[in-house]
Amino acid sequence: MKILGTGSALPKKVVTNDDLAAFLDTSDEWISTRTGIRERRVLSEETLQSLAEAAGKAALENARVAPEEIDFVLVTTVQAETLSPALACDIQTALGLKCMGLDLNGGCTGFIAALSVAEGLIAAGRARKVLIVSAEALSRFADWTDRSTCVLFGDAAGACVVGEGEGLKDIRFMSEPRRDVLCASTPPGNSPFAVDPAPAEYLKMQGQEVYKFAVSHSFKDIQAMLAAHDLQPEDVDFYVLHQANMRILEAVRTRLKVAPEHFPHNIERTGNTSSATIPVLLDEMNRAGQLKPGCRAILNAFGAGLCTGTALIEF
Ligand code: ACO
Repeated sequence: MKILGTGSALPKKVVTNDDLAAFLDTSDEWISTRTGIRERRVLSEETLQSLAEAAGKAALENARVAPEEIDFVLVTTVQAETLSPALACDIQTALGLKCMGLDLNGGCTGFIAALSVAEGLIAAGRARKVLIVSAEALSRFADWTDRSTCVLFGDAAGACVVGEGEGLKDIRFMSEPRRDVLCASTPPGNSPFAVDPAPAEYLKMQGQEVYKFAVSHSFKDIQAMLAAHDLQPEDVDFYVLHQANMRILEAVRTRLKVAPEHFPHNIERTGNTSSATIPVLLDEMNRAGQLKPGCRAILNAFGAGLCTGTALIEF
């Protein structure tokens, strides 16, 4: 399976660290030093669906694939606008698609999980081309009164068209179930039979626990992928990691002993957009002409579960 084209869309509204300091006890200095984030994009006029449609349309155009060639749409999202129908169904009218659509919630690892599902569909002969759209609106379930979490997140959609061909070499996942360190919940509903239903809660995170998990597992996962394919760190052109924190990216990079130009990032402009970070960054790299034929990349993401996903891919 190979990536045939990419797309992305960000909300218009730019929220700087100084904007946050206007209503939270925080500062640009604290946020940028601890995370590398300077600004993020947040949904205001748009809907998540409109972002997903824009990213999907851009990916189809970039791949030069007609809507009728798409056999399956996979949307990764932690929370779409509606529980039913799936966002993957809702974006089809605007994109001119008429195929099965499915939403997947793999947390921040969702995009890599979707690559794996698409690979399976294509290998089984059930699809020839799949549209993957990762669309996330963390602004909707972040607690905007909690300075330790809301400053980290942004909204975005990234997309790619995948199809038959040589490109994806390997995908691996790791899971260490730990609900306590990162979770958010939905409203409990109004069933008269529910006993002691838990109220909805905004996203809660034990930042230092997630940080330790991310640094140690990303490094180990990447090392394992390199070893499995008899590669040295310098044999990989780009390490496209989940954009959660610049310090996490730097810690993994220095452990691997590779130069900064091999670790692309946009977290300073976008914040953490969950499963959208990797496809948005891939799209920016693609449009900047960085993903040349033969170029090799390792994708790596970590997130709620906790779980991680790592992919080795050639363009
Ligand atoms: N502004 C100012 N002070 C703050 C802020 C803020 N925005 N947030 C927390 N603080 C304060 C805390 O209250 C604490 O104060 P205290 O010492 O008086 O109690 C102090 O700063 C230190 O807080 P820590 O939580 O220890 O700060 P830390 O250095 O660990 O940085 C951070 C926090 C940035 C969240 C870090 O732990 C981190 O990046 N963790 C990884 C998180 C992550 O990647 N999450 C996403 C993964 S899942 C997903 O992508 C959806």
